[in-house]
Amino acid sequence: MDRNLALELVRVTEAAALACGRWVGKGNKMAADEAATNAMRRTLGSMDINGTVVIGEGEMDEAPMLYIGEQLGTEGAAEVDIAVDPLEGTNICAKGMNGAIATIAIAPRGGFLHAPDMYMEKIAVGPSAKGAIDINASPTTNLKTIAATKNCNVEDLTVVILDRPRHEKAITEIRTAGARIHLISDGDVAPAIAAAVDGSGVDMLLGIGGAPEGVLAAAALKCMGGDMQGRLVFMSQEERERAVKMGIDDFEKVYTAEEMARGDVFFAATGVTNGELLRGIRYFSGGAETHSIVMRSKSRTVRFIEAQHYSDYKPTI
Ligand code: FBP
Repeated sequence: MDRNLALELVRVTEAAALACGRWVGKGNKMAADEAATNAMRRTLGSMDINGTVVIGEGEMDEAPMLYIGEQLGTEGAAEVDIAVDPLEGTNICAKGMNGAIATIAIAPRGGFLHAPDMYMEKIAVGPSAKGAIDINASPTTNLKTIAATKNCNVEDLTVVILDRPRHEKAITEIRTAGARIHLISDGDVAPAIAAAVDGSGVDMLLGIGGAPEGVLAAAALKCMGGDMQGRLVFMSQEERERAVKMGIDDFEKVYTAEEMARGDVFFAATGVTNGELLRGIRYFSGGAETHSIVMRSKSRTVRFIEAQHYSDYKPTI
């Protein structure tokens, strides 16, 4: 695939973040999501790709755009699969809290796990612990392994975990093991990626979150040489049936990052609100500043991009 796609992709997440940036703290998560989705759809439509949305805003009957199966771009261009979350952390954005991002990944056709909109158990770490994590092992065992690979003590590690009753047992165990915990209210894609960024203060993302978000995080971690494992969590027979329709037959399977995002993968994200990975949108007189990350698995180039956008030249700000 053309390497310039990486820079095209960051324009897509910048547009989404700028669009929902105006909704930060306004208490309206639907409007924020809609603004991000419209902007992402508009920018994606002008890209030189022949894309199919495989991780998106929902099925065709529940999402007006960026729905699963939607075709985008130009016929005859590179055939890609598209995974989007125009606003990851809708509640965070509505409340003006930390950690909301706009994000997208693309892979050659067939590259992404077609994850249904259900839960996934996840463990994500940076390059130093690649190959050492095991989703079937206890949090304590994984913490000891990560500490050994980082040449530090378990007490030096920070684990990010969604603040949910379903994680009570894991939280107690992590505390007993001695590690520090950062509980988040929403948005587990950015901290999974932050685990692979030196100096981010995040060593591991653990716990159950959305499966589509898991695929996006896997794409990013693959680009960074980090590691991730995920296992779908079925809450009902209906979810099993939906998974079967999407080609999933082994309900216990542990997916590696590579199995969730195959081939030459591109990933981009732009901060909407501040977080461990990215700064949120900042407005100044006549414009706004964005902070993004963009990367490609083939070259492993990771770029952090700060951009200034001027409303005189970009009326959408
Ligand atoms: P949004 O769809 O509102 O952006 O929420 C995202 C999210 O917090 C993900 O980051 C996370 O994986 C998932 O929802 C957690 O789901 P739940 O809120 O049901 O525990």
